[in-house]
Amino acid sequence: MKIIKGFITFEGCEGVGKSTQVRMLTEYLTSTNQDFILTREPGGTPLAEKIRELILTNEMDIYCEANLFAAARSDHINKVILPAVQRGKLVICDRYLDSSLAYQGYARQLGQETVLNINKYAVENCMPQATVFLDMNPEHSWRKQKGKVILNDRMEKEDNAFHQAVYKGFLDLSKKYSSRYINIIPQKDKLLTSQSIIDELRKRGIIT
Ligand code: TYD
Repeated sequence: MKIIKGFITFEGCEGVGKSTQVRMLTEYLTSTNQDFILTREPGGTPLAEKIRELILTNEMDIYCEANLFAAARSDHINKVILPAVQRGKLVICDRYLDSSLAYQGYARQLGQETVLNINKYAVENCMPQATVFLDMNPEHSWRKQKGKVILNDRMEKEDNAFHQAVYKGFLDLSKKYSSRYINIIPQKDKLLTSQSIIDELRKRGIIT
């Protein structure tokens, strides 16, 4: 695997405040004049956004699903992520390959090796320098605590066992890839969570 300097990903289960934390990091970077681009998976290019729509709204075979995530990722990494890194920009990506390993590998039970093989050519071995993992059991997610259960897409509609398997997947990945993983336990006060993320990224010299 090739570590891409200046490429950061965010991972975690549904409803744990990932999008909020991504936004808060970008606000910090803007206020401190640090250049970045923000992108997401599945998506990030016009074509990958179309694939996202297909995946999240159609029932499909699990291999079809895993391959579509990889296809979207291939377009995204080649058209957006790598060119931006080459221009010296920091790239922040909401979800990446680890989501495929956790959702398709663990929860859909395709296994790590199959998912890595499916993604082999898509990602050309490119892995992020750091992965911020919001370590919160989906059973106790903020969304659940607030009693807000919005079932927007096919993954969110899966049962508790599925989401527990995703969470276990991320925990295992965070141990296996501990050198790039930054495990953050979300606090009730989202500013505290954001501050820990900023501190950890600064400690590693990824941001200032
Ligand atoms: P999204 O709305 O981005 O979810 P969230 O706001 O929780 O990040 O929807 C993406 C869904 O797709 C989410 O349930 C995670 C799932 N997913 C996979 O199953 N495999 C993948 O490789 C990726 C990138 C996402």
